[in-house]
Amino acid sequence: MLLLLSLAFVVFVLGSYTINKESNSPNIHQSIETMEFGSNETPISRELTSFYTGTSNNDHIGDSFLWNGVRESDVDPPPSLTSHHPCDSFSFPPPPPPGLRRPGPRPCPVCYLSPEEALAHMPKHPFESPVLKNLTYIHEESPAKIEEGQGGSDFGGYPSLEHRTNSFDIKQSMTVHCGFVKGTKPGFQTGFDIDEDILLELDQFHDVIVASAIFGKYDIIQEPVNISEMAKKNIPFYMFVDEETDSYLKNTSSYTDDNKRVGLWRIIVVHNVPYSDARRNGKIPKLLLHRLFPNIRYSIWVDAKLQLVVDPYQILERFLWRTNSSFAISRHYRRFDVYLEAEANKAARKYDNASIDHQVEFYKKEGLTPYTEAKLPITSDVPEGCTIIREHIPITNLFTCVWFNEVDRFTSRDQLSFAIARDKIREKVDWNINMFLDCERRNFVKQVYHRDVLMNMKPPRASSRLLPEPPASPRGRLVGGRATTGKKIPGQRGRKRHRKVSAGGRNMR
Ligand SMILES: *[C@@H]1O[C@H](CO)[C@@H](O)[C@H](O)[C@H]1NC(C)=O
Ligand SMILES: *[C@@H]1O[C@H](CO)[C@@H](O)[C@H](O)[C@H]1NC(C)=O
Ligand SMILES: *[C@@H]1O[C@H](CO)[C@@H](O)[C@H](O)[C@H]1NC(C)=O
Ligand SMILES: *[C@@H]1O[C@H](CO)[C@@H](O)[C@H](O)[C@H]1NC(C)=O
Ligand SMILES: *[C@@H]1O[C@H](CO)[C@@H](O)[C@H](O)[C@H]1NC(C)=O
Repeated sequence: MLLLLSLAFVVFVLGSYTINKESNSPNIHQSIETMEFGSNETPISRELTSFYTGTSNNDHIGDSFLWNGVRESDVDPPPSLTSHHPCDSFSFPPPPPPGLRRPGPRPCPVCYLSPEEALAHMPKHPFESPVLKNLTYIHEESPAKIEEGQGGSDFGGYPSLEHRTNSFDIKQSMTVHCGFVKGTKPGFQTGFDIDEDILLELDQFHDVIVASAIFGKYDIIQEPVNISEMAKKNIPFYMFVDEETDSYLKNTSSYTDDNKRVGLWRIIVVHNVPYSDARRNGKIPKLLLHRLFPNIRYSIWVDAKLQLVVDPYQILERFLWRTNSSFAISRHYRRFDVYLEAEANKAARKYDNASIDHQVEFYKKEGLTPYTEAKLPITSDVPEGCTIIREHIPITNLFTCVWFNEVDRFTSRDQLSFAIARDKIREKVDWNINMFLDCERRNFVKQVYHRDVLMNMKPPRASSRLLPEPPASPRGRLVGGRATTGKKIPGQRGRKRHRKVSAGGRNMR
């Protein structure tokens, strides 16, 4: 314990540092926390080791593989940028010296351009959406279940299996279910309603927005740091909250009806949330941002439990523009297989076993296979979805619509449905998702919670429940997938303390 305390002190004192060379050189953001690794282990080697062996504790992978075989990302940079990009010479630093063993995911260094240089790399033209050019959405005033035992909701409109199949048949022009099926405009009499004056604001054009949400008072607002003046001026930060969180904020912060702000965040109050489960409501802005903001080019989604600590332009340059990608998401730090993820979710009581089994069985019948290297260049079937970086073009919009439809039909565990939605689109068109390392994600978002804060939060209250949902276990529902008071994962008590503070990235929503 003493050792842990002194270690914590060292980390606290050192904090994190930035190597900022003169202008024109890249910024290497490195967290000193990487020093805590055991011998020969870095976050990268751990992620890769576990990627190739399915364990996180393997010594027989040679250094040459680890340090030559590793690319900083899974996608090659486009030729036009390779020759001169200042980050070309960047490589992960050698493993830290042997030291204390501290299992658990950690950040690793990421090479960013300066915010100004990053902005200069914003593509002049939109990424070309393969095949699909015109995506429209199904509108239905009185949606009803068609099939026996069908999941879904009035908000999502109960797409039939045929609808579902058609939504994966990529054509030039498509019309799909994508939430908000009622009402004339997302946010207006659709459920997830937003005041009319603010709806107009959401229609405005922006190159980039950052978005997040708090439902059921789960989270406290994290002020982003290290945001350039340029980004503060040009990039709106939107935080969706329900009425309950709204009154809580008014009580506990400087936020009022007049300014509607907490720090950089513009607060948007949502009325008539469609689900009783806060985790489900949270999926609406996360996956359907393109419906709420029809006129933006790029968005960064950050779960509210995380603090953004790197400038949005730097993140977009690093994870989208440099790799010529339209969609980027980190992968889970040690699970790459949907079946293993499902088992882990059951063991951790994230959702009732029967609903998880039903979902995974359904996918198995559709041909989803366990993850193996044969799927390369796909490096994982399991995302860590607490951040999403994307360009809003028809194919990415379709992807998040069909992903949302899976979440609405089955469990709210979006990491279980990610791969099936991605792979069914990829069967038809040449489109890639940049799945970067979880340790790279941890470089730009930090979980800053204290356990005490979590313990003092009340569980979300059920409100306008529209339809019966598969029962979530009381514990899973109470804590929304974050720290629990008990033995959530048996046999890991020794790690518990550490996990509480740092494992929050594992989007267990
Ligand atoms: C980026 O990717 C798109 C789609 O895969 C491709 O059409 C385009 O040529 C690529 N651009 C560069 C610069 O590599
Ligand atoms: C897109 O599709 C919709 C619905 O099929 C159609 O009404 C509209 O004219 C199409 N737009 C373009 C630009 O093709
Ligand atoms: C971000 O800001 C924090 C707090 O101001 C600072 O300690 C840290 O060094 C900065 N990180 C980076 C990567 O610039
Ligand atoms: C606001 O704070 C007061 C005093 O702490 C408390 O009595 C009241 O219930 C709070 N209201 C809300 C909506 O949290
Ligand atoms: C659910 O499944 C997990 C893992 O398979 C198991 O440990 C747990 O006991 C099951 N829970 C119930 C309520 O059956």
